Parts: sequence; C-alpha cells; structure tokens
Amino acid sequence: MNILILGSGGREHALAWAVKQNPKCDRLIVAPGNAGIAQIAECAHFDILDAGVVVNFAEENAVEFVIVGPEAPLAAGVADRLREAGILTFGPSGAAAQLEASKCFTKEICDAAAAPTAAYGHFTDEQAALDYVRANGAPIVIKADGLAAGKGVIVAMTEAEAIAAVKDMFGGAFGGAGAEVVIEEFMDGEEASLFVLCDGTEALSMGTAQDHKRVGDGDTGPNTGGMGAYSPAPVLDARVEQKAMDEIIRPTLQEMARRGTPYQGVLYAGLMIRDGQPRLVEYNVRFGDPECQVLMMRLGAQVLDLLQAAASGQLGEAQVNWADDHALTVVLAAQGYPGSYEKDSIINGLGDCPEDSFNMVFHAGTSGQDGHITATGGRVLNVTARGASLSQARERAYAMVDRIDWPEGFCRRDIGWRALR
Ligand code: AMP
Ligand code: GLY
Repeated sequence: MNILILGSGGREHALAWAVKQNPKCDRLIVAPGNAGIAQIAECAHFDILDAGVVVNFAEENAVEFVIVGPEAPLAAGVADRLREAGILTFGPSGAAAQLEASKCFTKEICDAAAAPTAAYGHFTDEQAALDYVRANGAPIVIKADGLAAGKGVIVAMTEAEAIAAVKDMFGGAFGGAGAEVVIEEFMDGEEASLFVLCDGTEALSMGTAQDHKRVGDGDTGPNTGGMGAYSPAPVLDARVEQKAMDEIIRPTLQEMARRGTPYQGVLYAGLMIRDGQPRLVEYNVRFGDPECQVLMMRLGAQVLDLLQAAASGQLGEAQVNWADDHALTVVLAAQGYPGSYEKDSIINGLGDCPEDSFNMVFHAGTSGQDGHITATGGRVLNVTARGASLSQARERAYAMVDRIDWPEGFCRRDIGWRALR
C-alpha cells in the first residue's frame, strides 16, 4: 500500500515510524516531513493546505491511503477533497473539524449532547462580555472563537485580568479569531487527554496521555505546545475513561451524525477530572503533539490497521492490542522557546541514541544540512522511551537526552512528575 502522511512535526515522525513497521506499507511519503522523517520515508514538498494540489500529488503517486496530521489542512477541507477523489483518508471533513476550529460550535454540540463541560456565554459584543465577567467574577476563562495557534485562551485568576483579556480580544489581538468570544466557568481538577478513533459511528479508545504545557520545571513559566508527555495517564483510569466515552464522546458522535456531519478520524478530548468525574475542556480533531509520540511508541505497527479501519467505517471489528506498558517523551526545545530563539544550531550525539521498539528520538523542527542535523524550530526533538513502568520509561528517555550534545537546546527535567509523585 502507498501511504501519504501530511505534516512535519514529531507527531508525523511518530506516525510514520509506526506505519512503516506494518508489512502492509510499501511506499511511505511524508509532506513536507523533516530530517528525522527523511531517514525512514520519502519527503515531498508541496502546499498541504491546497486541497487541489494534495489530490493531484496523491493521484500522480498512486497513493492509496492519506493520513492527515495537523488541524489546518483538515479545517481547509483537504480530507473532503481526497475522499471525493476516491482516496481513502484518515481525518475529519472540514465541517466536522469545526470541533477544533470553533469553540462556539463545540459548546453548542456539548449542549445538544448533554456532555459535561464548563458553563459558558458566547459573545460578539464587548460590553455584553464585560457584563458577564463582572457578574460571574474570577477565576474565569476567556477564549477567542477560532483557531489561534493555542494562544487564544486566557485563564484569568483575577477580574482585572479577565477584563483586559476581553478588551484585547475585541480589540483584534487575535485577528479575526477574536470577533467572537466564549467566556467559561473555570474548572478545577487534573487535566488529561483521551484519544478516540472514530469511523462516523463507532468509537474505539486509543489510549490516554498527559501533557506538560508550561515551559519550566514544576509547571512554571509560559504555555507552550507541550514540553513532554506520558501514557497512560493514571488520573484517567478505566472507570473515568468509560464515563468519558459514555457521557461525552459517544453523545458527541451521535450529535455530529444527526447533523449530517459524522466524525471520522481521531477525536482528542482534553478532559478536566475532579472526584472521578470527567468534563470536557476542548476537542482537537487530530493527535496531540507530543502526546501522539507516546501513543505510537505503545501501539507500534497495529496503528496502520486501526487508522485504516477508522477511515473505512470498520471500527466495529477492530480492537487495540495493549501491552501492559508505559511510554514517556521529553521535548528538547531551542533556548528561548516559546519566545524567540536562534535557528540552525548543530545537534550532535543522535547517533549514540538507541533506536528500537523501546527507544526513539522523533524529530520535530529539524533539517539536514551538509551531513549535520540542525535545529529549525522551537520544539526540535522528542526523546521517547517505553518501559514496563513509567519510571523505567523515564530513565530510558533521560539517558538518551544526556547523550544528545546540543548546547543551544533545553528540556524539562521533571516529565511524568504527576504520575510518579
Ligand atoms: P483550550 O485551548 O481550550 O484547550 O485551553 C487551553 C488550556 O486552558 C487548557 O488546556 C486548560 O489548561 C485551560 N482551560 C481551558 N478552559 C478551561 C476551563 N474552563 N477551566 C480551567 N482551565 C481551562
Ligand atoms: N500538546 C497539545 C496539543 O497537541 O494540542
């Protein structure tokens, strides 16, 4: 089977690594890919947001299955156009991708599905939004409606902060995304993520994970795209997971199908868990990055069969073969991230890291230049390991981190602390 993966991050490297292990995979192309992906797949360069270009490339290269990594091509309708062209595609339609692209849309779906989530108000008028903040007080959460690259959410611990955030959003701080604002009740608890494969009707859990969003040890400093992750997340135990599937995920899928926009792909539910009760924080319509890396490490070659089953409406017969294992990934980022950082520094020592089914360094922002691997992004490497226990996975991951020679990079030293405390 000829397979095309769209994307260029650690998520796509991990997907490619897992898919490639499946004997069904003949030719593997990743667009645009990165230096790590180039070691295991062909990299192709074209505009992955242009559906016409993607369809042409897939047809010219006899691609039989497309896996869409990031949300932007999904929201742009790339999966719709591929399916119209008769190409099996993993990823939701542009209409179903609204679950990530619009916070208002997701709140309406939750209302219709009676899924537990934060109480909220939806505003297109600054004065009404300010009145709502003053009536409800802090802590309170202010969200720009559209995709804002993870920066459109302000968790305001004081009323003054909340008022400033509302004024910023209506003042255009987030561009078009701020013209509509959702204001939510602050939910207390522990956050974890549930990844569910969906084929339009059926849902199958692909595992749980916990991310580390803050840049510094002890969860300090500014928010990032994620500095490390591990799977499974103990707070999302089997009972909480079942509750989330029954009360949140399945009712959402039913509501999406009822509206004529069935959801196919992976549904990534960010959950706030308190006293064993999960509530929905947000949906994403893709795998998390770096959460995908730990899921792929645990699942390996079967991932291709599972994604294909979801894409072809056959999840009812599929099952996940779990090993009783744990995986953990440490993100190496360029010094300065999530602020400004230097590019093109050289990374050495990668050849000293083992690469097997227990240890992998997935690449995110890297490129290959003159025989060197150089850093080209903020988040650069995802040092990932698997073990019989989380502490074993963590020891293996940090042992690899210590072999990597990259003075311009840094990482958190406490990934996994919540589960190991
Ligand atoms: P989102 O982009 O909706 O995931 O929000 C980003 C982060 O803000 C989440 O991962 C949570 O840590 C936090 N957050 C969002 N909504 C709430 C809420 N209603 N209560 C508490 N924290 C929230
Ligand atoms: N790591 C968080 C995300 O992928 O959205």
